[in-house]
Amino acid sequence: MIRIKVPATSANLAVGYDCMGMAVNLYNTFEFSPSDVLRINGCPKDFQNEDNLVYRAFLKGCQNLDQEVPKVAIQIKSDIPVSRGLGSSATCIVAGIVAAYVWFHVPVNHKDVLKLANEMEGHPDNVAPAIFGGLCMSFVQDGEIELINYPINQDYRFVAIIPNFKVSTEAARSILPHELSYADVTYQVSHSLLLVNALASGELNKLKIALQDKMQEPYRQKLIKNYVEVKKICDKINCAMYISGSGSTLMGIADSDEKQKLMIKKITEHLPAWRVEPVQVENQGVKIEVL
Ligand code: HSE
Repeated sequence: MIRIKVPATSANLAVGYDCMGMAVNLYNTFEFSPSDVLRINGCPKDFQNEDNLVYRAFLKGCQNLDQEVPKVAIQIKSDIPVSRGLGSSATCIVAGIVAAYVWFHVPVNHKDVLKLANEMEGHPDNVAPAIFGGLCMSFVQDGEIELINYPINQDYRFVAIIPNFKVSTEAARSILPHELSYADVTYQVSHSLLLVNALASGELNKLKIALQDKMQEPYRQKLIKNYVEVKKICDKINCAMYISGSGSTLMGIADSDEKQKLMIKKITEHLPAWRVEPVQVENQGVKIEVL
């Protein structure tokens, strides 16, 4: 049996739209074993068929390796909520492709996996950290993926603020305007450079400035009920916050254990139905076990 464990990812980090993403320590686990027919368990009945994203990714992996697609049983164990901006679909894509490599005893080439996964996902910001771990900046140049890992200061403390409702990526993308002015492009470039710097240096006040996005958060916050209140709570205790991926999760950032605990307490008191929990940057990326 092949077991693939893939971390959740928090994409965009505000001004890093479609190119930045960070892996965090929530996981989906996928087990692949030989079977007489295709079997998929651990997801809703509607997805237990050939259209399943994990299976489609497995198929893509097999085709890329010029191998006939074997009959497989896939068992999914998921701790990453769906349609919450934590890269749940990226975990399915990465697991399926990686499983194909392992199935056919081909050494896993992470860069090739990234290329294939990006073809399926459409943008590499979730799939790159799911594969490589840490904070990744990636984009496609002349058909090839450029990837850079950036450091995150160990003093930062993250809180996943996960609402009890979904936001579809499609809705969150269609709400965005089609154009940006030159002035706003300059604003975004300067703030994304500051973002990389502030994430490395641990200077929360700089990070709070860097996370003031003009490209997507002002539009998407309308899709996240209680966004304004959560932002106010974070501001009041001098913590940073951004929309994780296309939402609905909000990612809080503190610079001490005390402030992290206070953030969790205040938001949980205000929104008891939400899942509010500490998360850490996960630096390993996809993990493979053959049992
Ligand atoms: N960068 C993507 C977006 C992440 O914000 O739409 C979700 O797939």
